[in-house]
Amino acid sequence: MTDKMTVPGVVSRKGGRKLSMLTAYDAVLARLADASGVDMILVGDSLAMVGLGQPDTLAVGMDAMVHHTRAVSRGTERALVVGDMPFMSYQTCDEEAVRNAGRFLAEGRAGAIKLEGGARMLSRVRAIVAADIPVMGHIGLTPQSVAKLGGFKVQGKTAKAGRALVDEARLLEEAGCFSLVLEAVPAPIAQLITEAVSIPTIGIGAGPHCDGQVLVTHDVLGLFDRFTPRFVKRYAELGRAAVAAMEDFRKEVEEGTFPAEEHCFDMPAAEIEKLKD
Ligand code: KIV
Repeated sequence: MTDKMTVPGVVSRKGGRKLSMLTAYDAVLARLADASGVDMILVGDSLAMVGLGQPDTLAVGMDAMVHHTRAVSRGTERALVVGDMPFMSYQTCDEEAVRNAGRFLAEGRAGAIKLEGGARMLSRVRAIVAADIPVMGHIGLTPQSVAKLGGFKVQGKTAKAGRALVDEARLLEEAGCFSLVLEAVPAPIAQLITEAVSIPTIGIGAGPHCDGQVLVTHDVLGLFDRFTPRFVKRYAELGRAAVAAMEDFRKEVEEGTFPAEEHCFDMPAAEIEKLKD
């Protein structure tokens, strides 16, 4: 096992070897992601859409997120586990944000939290960081703002909007974020942000210039096909393989070829004889 990834370890990779982050919501996928050598495992609120079948990320709460984070932490030995603050767990006030962020570390055993939003979240970031809880920022397309944004759309497409994102990134760094997710922003804007801040940027649909990349594991493995954003690359088709395996199981059950002798437990012949008494 290589060394446990830490927040300072992530920060030290700015401009160096690229960082990789994948999502997980349970111990099984966490164990696989950890074995792959990725630097960070994000317990994303994408759990709502990918794991719970919701249409957006709004319908998952703190208890569920902490429950899943604890499972991921149990399955992770080396990567840094990052817990994603769900909708309405930090938007209301600093105190609630700090208390909920603390739950991710104390109960979920995460090493850091992530929250969405730029300038309007600075006081939340400062308050959480002041409680010694490392914060990963998230700007660009922030899925919890889907109602305001009118859908999952690329952000920062004009020079003015792009510059505003650069300013927000600087402010989040000043407020104490140790890294920043940039989601669905044009590659030139992600490059400007990456050059403007001294903390690592982790892109998803933000081009190749970021200090790292994150994807949703179910997308990477071909396990989620309700929709596939342009920025996703599928590295495997495990969904198809899973359906084929399940079909084989069903057919063998129907034909009576499963279970075979090697799947059954025997008992001493003398005991079987006694059953005939
Ligand atoms: O919830 C999530 O999975 C995320 C990533 C897509 C960055 O926020």
